[in-house]
Amino acid sequence: MNQSDKKNLEFIKNSGISYFLQDSPRIWFENSKSSENLNEIIEDNKKILEIKKVIESIKNHETSLKKSANNLVVYDGTLDAKVMFIGEAPGQEEDKLGTPFVGKAGQLLNKMLAAINIKREEVYITNVVNWRPPNNRTPTDEEILEFLPYLQQQIDIVEPKYIFLLGGVAAKAILSTPLALGKLRGKWHEYKSLKLNKKIYTIASYHPAFLLRSPQFKKASWEDLKMLQKRMNDEK
Ligand code: URA
Repeated sequence: MNQSDKKNLEFIKNSGISYFLQDSPRIWFENSKSSENLNEIIEDNKKILEIKKVIESIKNHETSLKKSANNLVVYDGTLDAKVMFIGEAPGQEEDKLGTPFVGKAGQLLNKMLAAINIKREEVYITNVVNWRPPNNRTPTDEEILEFLPYLQQQIDIVEPKYIFLLGGVAAKAILSTPLALGKLRGKWHEYKSLKLNKKIYTIASYHPAFLLRSPQFKKASWEDLKMLQKRMNDEK
């Protein structure tokens, strides 16, 4: 084989052609499934790039909370989640590991998810505020507002079908109301994202850390979780 034949063969192979003449005509669209997969991969990669940009912006955002915290805590789970769980702010364990909901409240959250047959890896878990406030104090309204654009950007990237708000701070940030959870829980709310032209069905319920301190509210929390489970099953 001369040099130019070799080059030509290489060119053909690199073009993805591994065979030419066959016994029956080639069915060009038999692999349309794999092009669907390709679109999913492209979409996933787009989301990864977008979330990286958000994380970079949070890192570069100057805030006094940064001074006392050890690690930035943004999210755990998947960018393809149907449900997004939003808590308040990282605690001591989360600050140590850089991952949300890994301490005692996180363990209870894992149990809550398991109770409605959802795996932690299938959801997107984040917080309103991404740096641990000193001594785990509640974030101020100013801090909530400071971090809200980043939370909204995450919602726009993940495009969840449902949002489950864990506690009063998340409810205040997303539902824009200081109303107590007792008034907000047990019903569906609608969140309208700034960018996406669709409603995201939202539930506000008790924070797992609160449930650990006040187990008498677990029954109500269970009802809220079942509401989510029912809607997810009905809309499958
Ligand atoms: N409490 C929260 O609100 N978020 C965490 O990540 C951990 C505890």
